[in-house]
Amino acid sequence: MTHQDFLKALVCPLTGSPLTIAEDGKTLTSEDGTIYEVGDTGIVNMLYPKELLPGDAHEQYLYDQAFLRYDKGVSWVFETLNHSDEAATRRFFIDLMDLKPGMKALEVGAGTGKDSALILEKVKPGGTAVLSDLSPNMLKLAQEKLSTEDVNVHYFLGNGSYLPFADDTFDAVFHFGGINTFSERKKAFDELTRVVRPGGKVVVGDESVAPWLRNTPTYATLLKANPLFRAEVPIEDVPANVENFKLHYVFGNAFYVMEYTVTAKAPEVDIDLPIPGKDFVDNWRLRADKAEA
Ligand SMILES: C[S@@+](CC[C@H](N)C(=O)[O-])C[C@H]1O[C@@H](n2cnc3c(N)ncnc32)[C@H](O)[C@@H]1O
Repeated sequence: MTHQDFLKALVCPLTGSPLTIAEDGKTLTSEDGTIYEVGDTGIVNMLYPKELLPGDAHEQYLYDQAFLRYDKGVSWVFETLNHSDEAATRRFFIDLMDLKPGMKALEVGAGTGKDSALILEKVKPGGTAVLSDLSPNMLKLAQEKLSTEDVNVHYFLGNGSYLPFADDTFDAVFHFGGINTFSERKKAFDELTRVVRPGGKVVVGDESVAPWLRNTPTYATLLKANPLFRAEVPIEDVPANVENFKLHYVFGNAFYVMEYTVTAKAPEVDIDLPIPGKDFVDNWRLRADKAEA
């Protein structure tokens, strides 16, 4: 996918309607007149809403300040958690995406590109990785660090809750580390799932200490020190059209990563199917009466 093809694939992050690319390729304009700019290094600013919700604006500010110390800081966090092998765990995440050479992958909240490098390796040769983040400084650093040899890499500034792509655009989507603080988390799950073709994978992870550890002394200290570890795994935000959902705890069981396959439709419960015999009717009636009592 060339840079021009990438620009053509972008749509309005709110309505999904097409954008008009300026002749010089420096701006994209939506039907309502909103202008999205293409930066000097090719990073397209697709942020929506233009004025971010306060929680998202705060996160953007924090990461824009922290980008230079981020890599060291995050590795230290994983080292504290059972002396976890960060590189091996990140390889495990990306393996869950089931990527193959030539495929098209999207990463939301790519940060400084720690997992992106592994995604690029998987889709090589000839594949496409689209990398995005809320923080311009984090994403610029990722762009500086990553090699584009044998692979198409495109970047955009974006809010994970408003993805500027048509349905079914990608073979797999990945996000790790930020979704606990997204202001519109449920909408982000809907978006991550919407842009993946049926049969493709969604892989999402973030802090959440496993329930069986929360009352142990060391983890209770951890939960007190950093409230983000108190987050619950947001299973209720997963859309209906998925199958093969799996949940893994990683990094000393203080982070989760979930994986699922996108399906064309939600599974059905056929409540009109005739009940096969009186025993079933009696049994279900008994259970229903007991539940009501
Ligand atoms: C903890 S970092 C994780 C970065 C990278 N995925 C990693 O594992 O090293 C969280 C990232 O999510 C980004 N982020 C936060 N809120 C976001 C949002 N609403 N949409 C997209 N990215 C967001 C932040 O800018 C930051 O780069």
